[in-house]
Amino acid sequence: MPKRRATITAVGHYVPEKVLSNADLEKMVDTNDEWIRTRTGIVERRILEQGGSSDMGARAAEMALTHRGISADEIDCIIVPTVTPDMFFPSTACLIQEKIGASRAWGFDLSGACSGFLFALVTAAQFVETGMHSKVLVIGVDKMSAITDYTDRNTCILFGDAAGAVLVEPTEEEGYGILDSILRCDGSGQNALYMRGGGSLNPASHATVDRKDHFIYQDGKAVFKVAVVKMADVSAEIMERNHLTGDQIDWLVPHQANLRIIDATADRMSLDHSKVMINIDRYGNTTAATIPLCLSEWWQAGKLKRGQRIVMASFGAGYTWGSILVKWSVPDLSTATK
Ligand code: COA
Repeated sequence: MPKRRATITAVGHYVPEKVLSNADLEKMVDTNDEWIRTRTGIVERRILEQGGSSDMGARAAEMALTHRGISADEIDCIIVPTVTPDMFFPSTACLIQEKIGASRAWGFDLSGACSGFLFALVTAAQFVETGMHSKVLVIGVDKMSAITDYTDRNTCILFGDAAGAVLVEPTEEEGYGILDSILRCDGSGQNALYMRGGGSLNPASHATVDRKDHFIYQDGKAVFKVAVVKMADVSAEIMERNHLTGDQIDWLVPHQANLRIIDATADRMSLDHSKVMINIDRYGNTTAATIPLCLSEWWQAGKLKRGQRIVMASFGAGYTWGSILVKWSVPDLSTATK
């Protein structure tokens, strides 16, 4: 019997309206537009002024369901990769389940930082491939502004808020869908990028607040050195083991943390830079949302087309990293169910 393969059948996204530009940040910390653009590629990012991650996630999920033309009560499972859940519990998946009215679903949050979306997509694919489920929503969402210290120029220029959602279903189309994945983690990177406070090791206290333990800490240089190698390696590895060359890949969909890391990955894949999805200039690093946000925007713009071969790649806190090879099967927007 042929293997039941999982595929992405719909995409959606949500970005908040409020824009925080480099010029705005110049007024808040000792930085400048030129430094931010040249060191990171970021020009502006979005900030959610009211509500939590579940509000953005619900909007992204609803867009995906509308494009697919199905109602939320057909969803079996909701997986929400995030490092900024509305609260520790209940899970953001439960809150989104209620907001969108997914009456038959179960769900859970997944902690994979900037690789969370890839980890969750592969998890969803397992439920579909085993036959346990037919419709799994993966909603990458982060409200990074909630854990960003806007007096720390090392981090506050980097992050933004957004959500991206994909629907994962079975496909019988030969050669389409989620074809291969490589996922990794290495806890030796734990001290380079973290939020120390609020968990069981360092529960919230006056001292943790005074120490700013509830904000992101990043040793940017240390993370950069590892990220630039690992993200490129894992992207090249998935191409090699699938006997693919750069001209056989239509899109690289990279996690959007730093334009220089993205460029290095594309070079390693021998990929023309016009085939790289980049929106870091408009949104900064939105952690678990970066990759599905790209997928949704590129599909809606008619640039990501059915039949194209794409490689998604990420690197994030943990360390965590990975790559996924997909043959895109979502009907082009002109033919999709509206
Ligand atoms: N504005 C102006 N100057 C700044 C600045 C800012 N916002 N932030 C840091 N600087 C200064 C530093 O103080 C330093 O000055 P010094 O040389 O006098 O000490 C100089 O700029 C260089 O700082 P450095 O941290 O070495 O910059 P960098 O080139 O490494 O870029 C990052 C910083 C964060 C953009 C980069 O390291 C990075 O992208 N890291 C990886 C991020 C990542 O992939 N994370 C994983 C996923 S979330």
